[in-house]
Amino acid sequence: DKGNHRHFMAKEIYEQPEVLSHTLAHYIDMASGTIRLPEAVPADLAALKRVTVSACGTAYLAGLVGKYWMEKYARLPVDIDVASEFRYREVPLDPGGLALFISQSGETADTLASLRYCAQNGQRILSIVNVQESSIARESDVVFPTLGGPEIGVASTKAFTCQLAVLACLAIAAGRQRGVLGEDDERKLVRSLIEVPRLVGQALKLEPQIEDLARDLSRARDVLYLGRGLNYPIALEGALKLKEISYIHAEGYAAGELKHGPIALVDENVPVIVVAPSDRLFDKTVSNMQEVAARGGRIILLTDAAGAEAAGDQPFATLVLPEMYQFVQPLLYAIPVQLIAYHTAVFMGTDVDQPRNLAKSVTVE
Ligand code: M6R
Repeated sequence: DKGNHRHFMAKEIYEQPEVLSHTLAHYIDMASGTIRLPEAVPADLAALKRVTVSACGTAYLAGLVGKYWMEKYARLPVDIDVASEFRYREVPLDPGGLALFISQSGETADTLASLRYCAQNGQRILSIVNVQESSIARESDVVFPTLGGPEIGVASTKAFTCQLAVLACLAIAAGRQRGVLGEDDERKLVRSLIEVPRLVGQALKLEPQIEDLARDLSRARDVLYLGRGLNYPIALEGALKLKEISYIHAEGYAAGELKHGPIALVDENVPVIVVAPSDRLFDKTVSNMQEVAARGGRIILLTDAAGAEAAGDQPFATLVLPEMYQFVQPLLYAIPVQLIAYHTAVFMGTDVDQPRNLAKSVTVE
């Protein structure tokens, strides 16, 4: 049932405040404002040398955000790979290590094969899964559920942000156990997570502005997405989402990579979507934008009020999100990139919920 929405994807985008609240409530003790994992991680986080993450598609991109979080907030080294590469890479693994798998369906063939490889090679298996009665859930030592409810649209939306919510909680727990975060740091980060559902509600209000932009985007042949740090995976996710449902060619790049190749593509016909909340790297992103603008590229900037001000009149359009703590930015900036893909696809008249050539769960290689 799509409720009042035209597509499941729209319904699922709009469910995010609610399912994120549920998911966060499963990992946070709301009374004390601290993390309370539903089960112990099947490895000693304090002593752990490294975590190995494998997943596919959007779940992989959630893992990439998780890497940035765990490295920064828990000083925990993270290796991450797409499962289709990991499973055949013959990765050497130290016995007793922790392997983390992320999957909405819990049935993705490459992710499951990677899990089995890790189990055979002495790893403890932790999975973040939406479908609890799935193969990946069954074969894991511990499952951290995302409480997203059924996701019908082939394009992953609410499953992605719920995966991010769980990874954020895991990173905080790891940071505490490893002595990187103190009690106050934990409370501050948890407080910022508790704000997320409300802020997502605010981000959804950008929809009319995004609908206007979609008309323009639907005429593009190629679209570039740029982001740095925690928002680099969001640029990749924006590009994946757009190509998946609108069939417009899109690529995501780390903003700093622009001048190492992709800038050659930029002309007045290539929209460049820049995911850049104002932070200590914002100046660098502004100079990347100048390079794009100088070549006639049309910039769509996703930022906050301070970023909009600093960017001046360079962007063709600016989508202004609320100010928020840096830690939670990927959860919030995911929302406009979902809406951009959705409305561009609706404008193109594609089958948004069932895009051509794709299956909701990829159970063959
Ligand atoms: O069920 P999974 O999370 O394991 O699926 C992984 C990918 O197939 C999936 O995220 C895919 O990339 C989505 N269609 C992206 O929107």
